[in-house]
Amino acid sequence: MLAEALLYARARLAGQQNPHGHLTELVSIWARHRRQRRAWAEHLTRARVLCLKAAEACGTRRTALVLGAGLLLDVPLEQLSALFQHVVLADLAFLPATTALASQLGNVELMVTDLSACLNSLPDAQALAARIPAPWPDLTLGLGELDFVYSANLLSQLPLYAASSLAKREARPDEADVEAYAASVVRAHLEALRGLSCPACLVTDTRERGYRSGRLEYEEDLLYGVDPDLPGETWPWLLAPRGELEPGLDVEHMVLGVPDVRIGARTGVSSPGGRHDR
Ligand SMILES: C[S@@+](CC[C@H](N)C(=O)[O-])C[C@H]1O[C@@H](n2cnc3c(N)ncnc32)[C@H](O)[C@@H]1O
Repeated sequence: MLAEALLYARARLAGQQNPHGHLTELVSIWARHRRQRRAWAEHLTRARVLCLKAAEACGTRRTALVLGAGLLLDVPLEQLSALFQHVVLADLAFLPATTALASQLGNVELMVTDLSACLNSLPDAQALAARIPAPWPDLTLGLGELDFVYSANLLSQLPLYAASSLAKREARPDEADVEAYAASVVRAHLEALRGLSCPACLVTDTRERGYRSGRLEYEEDLLYGVDPDLPGETWPWLLAPRGELEPGLDVEHMVLGVPDVRIGARTGVSSPGGRHDR
């Protein structure tokens, strides 16, 4: 707890804001990774290898952009920095170690930005009930010469703040309307990735499974019913081995890794709510 408090304080002193709680969340991921380094190792290696292979396949290597770079656990930053002229890391929060590494590498820039493009303009009660979808985010972030984009374990996290703050409103909204909005955030990110004019690599967790004594206790869709419908590699990530969250409960996430979402898309982003309406 003390290490977490100090890290949080150092980040705030270095100028990092925490308007939506993302810095608090990043510090708790940092602490969980320290406790579960071994359990997470294989997942993080697979994600880094997938990203690197996809990046190496790029013929032109001017700018690479990492969406949801956070702690860089699943980002092969040194290799990306060697491959590309310029690397941009985008997230709502960064810790001092990332800032230090970026300045040491010399060609890495940090961009603090809301990649869901909706956190400061959540729908009012009427728009929510009318199922007006989340806005379409510009995932180029206005960067020219973009030759590679990596969405790094971000997708399932994108709708969380929006969904929880909508659900906490005084005039309690319909749960189904909140979930539909969260699904629209997921769909918008996938469609915006597909709309890019350079390779767009995606790593995301898709489902959570809880096991007690080896038996499945529950299963949850982390993408609010949206099926990315993309061919790729899948693998398990033992996110919280027994004791991390609850005694006797092992929590595992299923992960999808796609080298370039623009290639081999089967039918487009599908969900019970249909395609994203713009
Ligand atoms: C599961 S973490 C993965 C982080 C990173 N890829 C790593 O390996 O450390 C999800 C990341 O998404 C970021 N994030 C969540 N919602 C965001 C948003 N609306 N805009 C920008 N970043 C967001 C979080 O701050 C966090 O760093």
